[in-house]
Amino acid sequence: MSDDRLIVALDVPNALEGLKLADALGDSVSFYKIGLGMLTGGGLALAQELKDERGKRIFLDMKLFDIGATVEAAVRGLAQFDIDFLTVHGDPHVVAAAKEGAAGKDLKILAVTILTSLDRSDLDAALLKEGDTSAIVLERAGRAFEAGADGVIASPQEAKLIRDLPGADGKLIVTPGVRPEGAALGDQKRVATPARAISDGADHIVVGRPIWQAADPRQAAQAVIEELPARQG
Ligand code: C5P
Repeated sequence: MSDDRLIVALDVPNALEGLKLADALGDSVSFYKIGLGMLTGGGLALAQELKDERGKRIFLDMKLFDIGATVEAAVRGLAQFDIDFLTVHGDPHVVAAAKEGAAGKDLKILAVTILTSLDRSDLDAALLKEGDTSAIVLERAGRAFEAGADGVIASPQEAKLIRDLPGADGKLIVTPGVRPEGAALGDQKRVATPARAISDGADHIVVGRPIWQAADPRQAAQAVIEELPARQG
């Protein structure tokens, strides 16, 4: 049985591989993330195929960042596709422009706070101000909500703090950086288990390598779903 709290990242090289993987996962997965790596390999066509022919929900992870007018135009174009979630960087002008571009469409704009593969030393290298990583994430999340974001992307380690923000009511928290107990971290640094991410307030978890690199991806997806706490309410 699928559970749309699990979003599987289809980080395979091209649309054909993506479709093969989705078909292997079958009805165990109902929500897919298509990222930048897939874009030049037919990502938008794959999104449409999964939506129209297989009834899946689609999260397009483009992490857009540009001047407002360009972001608005890009989102207006992407909103013509039947997509459920789209990511932009969490800077307020980017979020506000993306919301303009998505006006009238049922497309949720999710703001990236700080990539889950980055820690304090990476932020230093990027000349981002001193201070605790989670404090910066919280500040960016709060500002993104004020700018109209429908939700944020953050590490599961920050989900609880974000859920408690005054502006977080009704907003989505989506967490990559999720690793079942014992799974390889890869380049992820700020991680937690699927169960912990959901119980700390995430609405959806994004899991990539622990599923698509597994010997049996369907079984790996089912194991993640079985680990999730019962839905509330
Ligand atoms: O393989 P893994 O489970 O680490 O995949 C995580 C996915 O989530 C990747 O597609 C990555 O691009 C995406 N992501 C992330 N951190 C963010 C936003 C998106 O890891 N802050």
